[in-house]
Amino acid sequence: MAYRYKVVELAKLPAADTILTAGELAVYQDFKIEKRRKEWLGGRYALKSLAMDFFTFNMKQMEVKNSSSGQPRLLVPGGTHLPVSITHSGIWASAAIALTGEAIGIDIEVVEKRSKAWAEECFHKDEISSKAAVFLTELWVKKEAVLKFLGVGLSINMQNIRFVNGNLELHGKALDLWAKIGSPKIQIDVEDLDGGYKLAVASQAPLL
Ligand SMILES: CC(C)(COP(=O)(O)OP(=O)(O)OC[C@H]1O[C@@H](n2cnc3c(N)ncnc32)[C@H](O)[C@@H]1OP(=O)(O)O)[C@@H](O)C(=O)NCCC(=O)NCCS
Repeated sequence: MAYRYKVVELAKLPAADTILTAGELAVYQDFKIEKRRKEWLGGRYALKSLAMDFFTFNMKQMEVKNSSSGQPRLLVPGGTHLPVSITHSGIWASAAIALTGEAIGIDIEVVEKRSKAWAEECFHKDEISSKAAVFLTELWVKKEAVLKFLGVGLSINMQNIRFVNGNLELHGKALDLWAKIGSPKIQIDVEDLDGGYKLAVASQAPLL
């Protein structure tokens, strides 16, 4: 596996001042909504505790910054180019680090019934072989992981990223972005998390 990921429970986070740098703590304290504060802290705790498997730095020597597109970056003394990704949903937060390759995307979503309008907007007819919540949630979580792999958010049409019979197809802006990063072979891994959640990781498939 060319990446590592870590899942943490938002209810079991250490104190913010044991995880965050002074700069991060200022951002953290600025959040007005407790849920957002917790999720933000959880994403950083997941990423930093994972990074400690690869670096000899402690949590307060590492910093997570978001680029103008929102994509997270891990800053460590002396620098690193390891691609990272963050997600949080419900009781969980998670982060992934790519050990090889130029990109990574991770997403968690709760398995629940969503509106017909949402499904019509997000899914191309060729993708829909079932209307079951677990099927649609798995399709969605895979799409979001690819979105993050491409470093773009919900600003693109989600039907540009399709899974037809399980095979990833990129169209329109998603295809352009993929070509811009060298058209890497994308591997998708999916896992179930306790409490009825789906987790997906989009990573660069190792060159065989
Ligand atoms: C990426 C995105 C779809 C995730 O939304 P979500 O499913 O509600 O949230 P998740 O918990 O799964 O993921 C949130 C994390 O995605 C990461 N993220 C945000 N934008 C990202 C992007 N463009 N590429 C990759 N990762 C991104 C962040 O680390 C964020 O967590 P943080 O804010 O705590 O650091 C959403 O954040 C988004 O659309 N971001 C882009 C916003 C945008 O278009 N900005 C453009 C400004 S010009």
